[in-house]
Parts: sequence; structure tokens; C-alpha cells
Amino acid sequence: MSESKFTKIEEVIDGKKTGKTIHIRGWIYRTRSSGNIVFTVIRDVTGILQATVKKGNLSDKEFVDAEKALIESSIEVEGVVKEDKRAPGGYELQVAGFHVVNFAEPFPIVKDQSPEFLLDQRHLWIRSQQLSSVLKIRSTVVGAIHKFFRNHGFYEFDAPVLQPSQCEGGSTLFEVKYYENKTYLSQSWQLYAEAAVFSLEKIYNMGPTFRAEKSKTSRHLSEFWMAEMEAAWMDLNDVSQIAKDEVKFILDEVLKNNQRELSILGQDVKKLQRIAESEFQTITYTEAIKILNEKENMGLDWGKDLRTIEEDKLMNHFTTPVVVTNYPVDIMAFYKPRDPKDPKTALCFDMIAPEGYGEIVGGSQRSLDIEDMKKRLEDAGEKVENYEWYFDLRRYGSVPHSGYGLGVERLVAWICKLENIKDAIPFPRTILRFKP
Ligand code: 4AD
Ligand code: MG
Repeated sequence: MSESKFTKIEEVIDGKKTGKTIHIRGWIYRTRSSGNIVFTVIRDVTGILQATVKKGNLSDKEFVDAEKALIESSIEVEGVVKEDKRAPGGYELQVAGFHVVNFAEPFPIVKDQSPEFLLDQRHLWIRSQQLSSVLKIRSTVVGAIHKFFRNHGFYEFDAPVLQPSQCEGGSTLFEVKYYENKTYLSQSWQLYAEAAVFSLEKIYNMGPTFRAEKSKTSRHLSEFWMAEMEAAWMDLNDVSQIAKDEVKFILDEVLKNNQRELSILGQDVKKLQRIAESEFQTITYTEAIKILNEKENMGLDWGKDLRTIEEDKLMNHFTTPVVVTNYPVDIMAFYKPRDPKDPKTALCFDMIAPEGYGEIVGGSQRSLDIEDMKKRLEDAGEKVENYEWYFDLRRYGSVPHSGYGLGVERLVAWICKLENIKDAIPFPRTILRFKP
């Protein structure tokens, strides 16, 4: 890439340009004028910088343009960098040239607008310091996931997005007209991954995933990104350990690359650091129920799934993510096998994040018992013949294998301390929203 004459704002704030004449380009973040002076705060992808425009230091036309240019106008300016403790970031630019690339119309977003309005204006709101910080952290998270698996010898493997049947329950499928037939948007990459591990042994993927979630919670999206892994020869212990290592690796990468963004978002960096260095505990579902009944007086019966409220109360007792294994087999998906040591439970796990962010990972060992899976699919009202190809995987050189899926937005929401998962994805889709 060719050298640009433009300096990035972070170099100015880092004190590398003091006393020098530089060119900056970006967008007007804030602006006010009084008499013969205009204070314009400029933003680019790396930060914000105050520019002081004084009449007489540049042409009359340029000064009038600087006075006229509204928030979000795009500009190119030239000036000398001066240290100034009062300016945001501690430096200001004394402007000698001011060129407006595009005069913005009055920007629709002003202070204190409702979350719904901001979602309607999402195409503009992604410029905010808050959302751009989240997007940068999300980019680190996604990069870290690829890095983690590639470093550990996993192949990236892609599955179809249009699938003929369910993996995670028929009630949340999105139906798609497919010529004269119908298909469904992928709820998971898993069933195809199970085919591929007999070829590639260790694989991963990250891709858009779709669930027609009827619930309006701060944790559910209709379209989200899931990072999944699947591996031949691995058992529940192996993959839950990989999930712990993966989450810690992602935290490390964010701590290395996104200190500035974490502080804009008000996240406690020391706390994340401590979590990244801690052991994540593993408990069983039965132990979780015991904690909830003994320490939270919840009076729960063994056998029901942990809902949001139970997950949150459980996490009152932990400060790092926790792996919960061996949920009741009767409430689990058809492919999760019985634990021979405790047959009313399945060889499965969830990882639950602290501070009310809920389940961030779900996974299991995979059943090898065709008859058991057939029965469970039938009980769930599924057409068993649709799964014959999947049963073939147990007929030709079957081996123990396991895998899990990590919810990218759930993890980003936790790392960024977001109130709602909708802010962990640029253009959220939920039961009530599919625009813009
Ligand atoms: O627990 P889930 O449903 O597991 C599976 O889909 C497995 N087939 C994955 C596998 O073993 N390969 O989903 C995995 C994770 C959840 O732990 C959660 O973090 C996230 O995906 N997730 C959602 N995130 C946002 N919105 C939703 N509606 C989500 N549903 C699941
Ligand atoms: Mg789950």
C-alpha cells in the first residue's frame, strides 16, 4: 500500500507529532464556533482530536466553510500539533487549511435518543464511539477464533447454509422456499461437521446461524454468528478443555489489542485480565441444582433445563466462566449421548459467563447409537428418513467424536459489558426487527 500524506489521529495523541505540520482526514465529531474561532473535534478510526480554526490563519472561504460544516461532514485539514491539556486527548491541531469533502445535512442523531430510534438509524449509529469500539473488539474476537484453531491444527470447513432438516429443534427453524421444495436456514454447522471429521479429523468454522427465537430477551438474536468445532477421537473432557482454552485465548487477544476500546466501553480491564489468568471450574448440572437450592433457595426439581434466571443466580457464586456438564438427557438434543456412568444425564456441557451474560458455549460428545437417535427424533416429531445420511456416519468407521459451538455475540456482549446482545452485531435481527 502506498504511503498516505495523512496522519492517523492516534499518532497525534501518542505525542509523536508535537510541533509538526500534519494533514488529517475524517469526520466532524463535534463543532462550535464563537466569533473568529471554530473548535472542531475530528474523528477518524483511531481516535478524536480537537482542531482550532482561527480566522486569519487560513483563507476566508475556508474559515466560512469551517463555520458552516455540521456534525458528520467529511473533511481534510492541515495544521500544526500543539500540546494542550484542556483538549480531549491532550493535543490540539492549529488549523492552517480546511477542506470540506462533503457538507453533511443536519445529523438525525442527537443526545439521549431511545434505543429503538438508534436501531432505526443503525446505518449512521455505527459511527459512534460506543459501537465502533464494539466492532473493533468483535474483529479481534473473530480473528482470535481463526488463529486459535489454526494454531492447533484444525482445518476450516464450510457447511451448507440451506439445510433439509433441523439440528437444534424444529420450533426455531426459518423456512426458505427452495424451487418446488422447502429448506431451512442453518441452525448449526454440526451435522455436516460430523461427516467431515471422518475426512479432516479436527475442524472448525464460524458462520451466520439462524434461529426463529420467539423470545424477546437481551441474549437472543434471530441471526447470529456461531464459532463451532468438531473433532474425531475427542471426548467431552477434551472438548470442554478446548472451549476453556479458546475463551482465554480470545480474552488475551482482546487485552493485547483493545485497551482503548475497553476503556471507552467502561469495561474493567484488570478484571478481564484476572479472568484470563484463572482456571475455569467444571461442575455438573446436579451440582448446579444443589447450589441453586441450598444457596439461593430456589426449590428446583432435578430435570428441568436451566433458564436465564437460574444461570444468573448460579453465577452469583462464580467470578469466571463455568462449565456445567451432564444435563438431564431427556431435555437434550437427539445427538447428545447418555453418560454410561450416570444414564439419566447426557455427555454434554454448557459454558456460562459471569455477570448475567448466560450461556456462551454449548457442546457435547456425539451419540453413536442409531436406534436411540431414531427414537428421540421420532419422539420430537421428526422424519427419521431425513437423517439416514447422518446415520451412515455411524455405519462406516464410526469413532467417538465431540464438538461445541460458541456464540460470538454472547461472548462479545460479555467482553464489552453490553446491556443488550443487539449491540454486539452491526445490524441486529430479532423477532421485532429486520431493518435496516
Ligand atoms: O447451545 P447451542 O444451541 O448448540 C448448538 O447449536 C450445537 N449444535 C453446537 C455444536 O455443538 N456444534 O448453540 C451454541 C451457542 C450457545 O451457547 C449460544 O452462545 C449461542 O450459540 N446461541 C445464540 N446466540 C445468540 N442468539 C441466539 N438465538 C442463540 N442461540 C444460541
Ligand atoms: Mg445450548
